[in-house]
Amino acid sequence: MLDVQNVSHWFGDRQVLDQISFAIETKEILVIMGASGGGKTTLLRCINGLIVPTEGDILVDDVSVRKNADSVRQKMGFVFQYAALFDYLNVEENVAFGLRRKPGIKRNSIPETVATMLKLVGLEGAEKLMPSELSGGMRKRVGLARALAMEPSYVLYDEPTSGLDPVTAYSIDRLIVETRDEVGVTSIVVSHDLSSVLRVADKIAFLDGGKLAFFGTPAEFRKERRESIDELVEKARAESFLESAQAERP
Ligand SMILES: Nc1ncnc2c1ncn2[C@@H]1O[C@H](COP(=O)(O)OP(=O)(O)O)[C@@H](O)[C@H]1O
Ligand SMILES: [Mg+2]
Repeated sequence: MLDVQNVSHWFGDRQVLDQISFAIETKEILVIMGASGGGKTTLLRCINGLIVPTEGDILVDDVSVRKNADSVRQKMGFVFQYAALFDYLNVEENVAFGLRRKPGIKRNSIPETVATMLKLVGLEGAEKLMPSELSGGMRKRVGLARALAMEPSYVLYDEPTSGLDPVTAYSIDRLIVETRDEVGVTSIVVSHDLSSVLRVADKIAFLDGGKLAFFGTPAEFRKERRESIDELVEKARAESFLESAQAERP
């Protein structure tokens, strides 16, 4: 269970999170939405212990991130916005990277784990390819395989479908749901794509200017949709489109 308790965060004198509180159950998929600069990535980094929030705390399976950031971080896998693969390592070396550094892992078990993870994300046969040879969707899959190899209880995805065409984005959505069903992880996904969110989310958290403007199920979200939320959704979608167009430029 993930319990976010009154989290506020400032960068210098700028407040980016304002008294955020919500909780999700184990194996749920939480989607965090909101406009660009709304604090989504910051909240994700607070959840996995990379940032200690200025105020409040987050309990991960009853363990305080504030007090035990290291042990919480070991339960978390992170799939980065632009996949963040090592360009000089091939696919299987990218997936093995964290495993080789994990205490207590038998080295001779690594190839089998890597093969299992690549199969799970539908990348059998791509072992020897270099990141430059991969499509955007394949890069995200390698990022997910690399995170899952560490056997996390929680997987955090920062905009996993940004910059992907709709068909590839749909396949990544499917993969997020399959991963939850097959591996039993709890998933926290930052997304701006409302149709995708309504497909995959068990719970939606909508951030606006650092505040939690909405928290609930997709059904509640549909019912409660106010004009202001619709505007925010549209704004978030447009901004994210521009952002990813810029990021993809050579
Ligand atoms: N490390 C940092 N130092 C200072 N300001 C930051 C830092 N990270 C993010 N910010 C600022 O905090 C705000 C929220 O950022 P972020 O959480 O990345 O938003 P989102 O992911 O919703 O686009 C932005 O105004 C951003 O510029
Ligand atoms: Mg972000």
